[in-house]
Amino acid sequence: MGNVIGLTQDMSSWPKHFSQADLVVEAVLEDLNLKHAVIKETEQYIPEHCVFATNTSALPIAEIAKASKRPENIIGMHYFSPVDKMPLLEIIPHEGTSEKTIATAYDVGLRQGKTTILVKDVPGFYVNRSLGPYMSEVMDLVMDGADPLRVDKALKTFGFPVGPINLADEVGIDVAGHVQSFLGDNLGVRMSSPHKNASTILPKMMEKGLLGKKSGKGFFEYVFVVVVVLTSPSLLQSSHISMIPINQINKTLAQIRQERKTKRCECRSTETCG
Ligand SMILES: NC(=O)c1ccc[n+]([C@@H]2O[C@H](COP(=O)([O-])OP(=O)(O)OC[C@H]3O[C@@H](n4cnc5c(N)ncnc54)[C@H](O)[C@@H]3O)[C@@H](O)[C@H]2O)c1
Repeated sequence: MGNVIGLTQDMSSWPKHFSQADLVVEAVLEDLNLKHAVIKETEQYIPEHCVFATNTSALPIAEIAKASKRPENIIGMHYFSPVDKMPLLEIIPHEGTSEKTIATAYDVGLRQGKTTILVKDVPGFYVNRSLGPYMSEVMDLVMDGADPLRVDKALKTFGFPVGPINLADEVGIDVAGHVQSFLGDNLGVRMSSPHKNASTILPKMMEKGLLGKKSGKGFFEYVFVVVVVLTSPSLLQSSHISMIPINQINKTLAQIRQERKTKRCECRSTETCG
């Protein structure tokens, strides 16, 4: 960490640091146009050999690479949240990525201590392709009235290190929602739930600002607690306490479930359930 340099646009030195970089990892919002704009701007400053890695969860790397002057330098490096705890790293070349770029990204992953795997540029890559049907079933269960805390507890008892609801909050409801809708569009019903309606839960939560841990509220509420250690007043420790379901969220879930019930009734009466 001694070599990490925090940069902001207010600092005049940031173009100099970019001009010396061998590899840049972009992790801006999951929006293709924004990723294109960031590639174009970054390429004004980075050297020709510099690898440009994107940490997208679901956008095709080949699409992202279309904005680049040097598409052979573009590659996916998909980390998992929380990055310091999750060992896996997906390395995703697109068809035009050079061997040198793949080798550089792979080497950086290994040096970071990651379990580094090389995967194809297909919807969901490896992890989200496997995780998608599981998360869809979980969202369906919640829509059908299952208590999110009990779902998480059951799956942790089964052996998962983190419950799926907690995972969605950790990843961010906006990111999880984008992945679900992208996979549903590309891979069909197994990713978007048999009822399709289940996928409405994440966009509805987004509309209500329930973005998960990063916004303080998702399926659970996250209370930020500052603990002052009395023996050393200068040392402040902070932590998150998680997993407290709150009334507002329970009301939101109840409202979304009710809307779904109404839609199902309409579907039965018209026999055209979507
Ligand atoms: N959250 C996860 O668990 C996770 C895991 C793997 C990959 N990703 C991917 O990482 C990327 C970021 O996701 P996140 O969860 O960190 O999102 P986030 O909302 O927490 O952070 C997005 C970042 O984008 C920046 N940003 C927003 N608009 C910008 C703009 N116009 N110009 C420059 N920067 C801008 C914000 O300042 C912020 O730092 C996405 O592509 C996501 O799919 C997320």
